[in-house]
Amino acid sequence: MLIRKPSDILPSEITTQAVYQQRRRLMLQGGAALAAAGATGWSARQAFAAAPTGAALPGTPNPAFQATDKPTSYEDVTSYNNYYEFGTDKSDPARYASALRTEPWTVQVEGEVGKPQTFDIDALRKLAPMEERLYRLRCVEGWSMVIPWVGYSLNALIKQVEPTGNAKYVEFVTAVQTDTMRGVRGNVLDWPYVEGLRLDEAMHPLTMLVFGLYGHVLPNQNGAPLRLAVPWKYGFKSAKSLVAIRFVEQQPKTAWIKAAAREYGFFANVNPNVDHPRWSQATERRIGEDGFFTPKRKTLMFNGYDEVASLYQGLDLRANY
Ligand code: MTE
Repeated sequence: MLIRKPSDILPSEITTQAVYQQRRRLMLQGGAALAAAGATGWSARQAFAAAPTGAALPGTPNPAFQATDKPTSYEDVTSYNNYYEFGTDKSDPARYASALRTEPWTVQVEGEVGKPQTFDIDALRKLAPMEERLYRLRCVEGWSMVIPWVGYSLNALIKQVEPTGNAKYVEFVTAVQTDTMRGVRGNVLDWPYVEGLRLDEAMHPLTMLVFGLYGHVLPNQNGAPLRLAVPWKYGFKSAKSLVAIRFVEQQPKTAWIKAAAREYGFFANVNPNVDHPRWSQATERRIGEDGFFTPKRKTLMFNGYDEVASLYQGLDLRANY
């Protein structure tokens, strides 16, 4: 994302001094304990992995949405995360997101709709039958995972609120809890984390409102109590911990566009032919396949979800990255 590889950037360049100092202190404290346990790198992350203790949330497998790839392990899915509200290290969300308050939780659905409504999380869980879908997730940073999500198509919710003819885009606003989210005290992004989709993208059956993974409610680090999964787009479009869904006429100003518009576009479709200004997008590292000799995988157009290609007919995907 905004963060260059550790070898070419100092952490102090990307975080405020206070956040950096605090992280250093924690790293030093934590580092001593991990060194004692002989844990470094990957295994250090595993040391903070959450056990699958959340409530069961089964979904009926939907055969139309089953990637044939091997699922990434629960441990990896829940310990290698991006959730900048809890810090920019991959291990920060698993380490700190337990503080997130997920109850009570409501989602305001508003804007250009005939029936604006504030939904309680329990009502949303009952709005449509829970399905289990195995989706690939490709992060813009060059890694990918395969995750069995539990939820349903976002269009089930959209149909309930009846968008007006003026609704061209959907804006997704996510939670800010200053007391539980250590990351929002810094200015890495302009909080809240906001994302957006065109209405037709939001209505596509692949676009999923997610409440769980691996048959259990979402762990906090994965975006509890509800998030998006938009599998043909880079992972940053899949906003976590949603609190508002707004139907609007103008393209929403997303957090990543505000931070670096040249690097993170509105569409953010996975595209091996359009490089990020600072790195290639042609290949990816599948988390869990980290052997020294393991070749990288070729990244697929639309992350392999060819059924969305018709949404972009006539659109220059290089200009609209
Ligand atoms: N949502 C919020 N609110 N904050 C974030 O920092 N990171 C995004 C996305 N959603 C992010 C977010 C990015 S960059 C990715 S790759 C995915 O979440 C990662 O989801 P995962 O941790 O469940 O794999």
